[in-house]
Amino acid sequence: MTTPSQPGRLYGVGVGPGDPELLTVKAQRVLQSVPVIIYADSLVPEEIAGFAKPGAIIYGSKEMALPEIMEVTLQAVSEGKTVARIQSGDPSLYGATLEQMRILERERVDYEIIPGVSAAFAAAAVLKAELTVPEVSQTVIMTRAEGRVAMPEGESLIDLARHGSTLVIFLSVTRMFRIANQLQEAGYPADTPVAVAYRVGWPDQQIIRGTLTDIAEKVRDAKITLQALIIVGKAVDPNLLDPASDERVAVSHLYSDEYTHLYRRAGQGDHAAADRTELYEAGGYEVQPERAVHTSTGDD
Ligand SMILES: C[S@@+](CC[C@H](N)C(=O)[O-])C[C@H]1O[C@@H](n2cnc3c(N)ncnc32)[C@H](O)[C@@H]1O
Repeated sequence: MTTPSQPGRLYGVGVGPGDPELLTVKAQRVLQSVPVIIYADSLVPEEIAGFAKPGAIIYGSKEMALPEIMEVTLQAVSEGKTVARIQSGDPSLYGATLEQMRILERERVDYEIIPGVSAAFAAAAVLKAELTVPEVSQTVIMTRAEGRVAMPEGESLIDLARHGSTLVIFLSVTRMFRIANQLQEAGYPADTPVAVAYRVGWPDQQIIRGTLTDIAEKVRDAKITLQALIIVGKAVDPNLLDPASDERVAVSHLYSDEYTHLYRRAGQGDHAAADRTELYEAGGYEVQPERAVHTSTGDD
């Protein structure tokens, strides 16, 4: 952005899925300090707006269209105020964030985005699931089913299902029957585990587990029609937590005694040196005599 021309600024604050304790320290500090807060009152609990300092002006955006939200924002920043625009989960996922940032860029408003805990990760935590289990799934696809919003080419559920990876599906629980059918048609076995997480982090949170065969009926019986995530894949199989499954499931190299990385030398276990070299290189490490140096980005 060119030099800001407005005296105030905006924080786009991701506040997590609902539980106020999932706010970041930074998000809390901003909420406690700004004079104007705009929050999505359909997706964010009142307690979060409750962090506001006395006298702060709080707008619920449930019934405000984007032009109105931006009008309030631009008015406040033109008066030199700092505005916190609260968004559920993390603003980078289905947050309509880009269109807001483009207006801020156009109006030369200084702004900063504060990331939040996405419902995807809060749901994984509640499910006690690791979304990336070695040899089960090393890829997570975050997507939504086609509905009012058309999917770009190559991103239909049928296209994505070809990967067989862990799927985290937002904004789509009303299409549970169609999703379960499409995923089976596209090759997911009928007994693929599915978890539906409703209002994670809220007092009425519900978790429904099943398979592609029965999950749609269970969701219908529970009358869940909004604010739910669908997570599909073997990674959400609760049986993986069974200690006996150690024998069936590969474990991550990360904490293995035989795996050297930047911060730890491997023990002189029973692996031959050549085997270790292969392991390190597969993990993105450059192998040198006596030690392995991490050279990949983002894989430590
Ligand atoms: C507009 S999107 C916002 C997503 C948000 N930015 C995030 O990172 O979680 C709303 C969708 O996110 C999911 N979602 C948001 N909060 C949730 C919660 N507390 N529990 C379950 N799903 C949630 C649902 O799929 C819902 O339809």
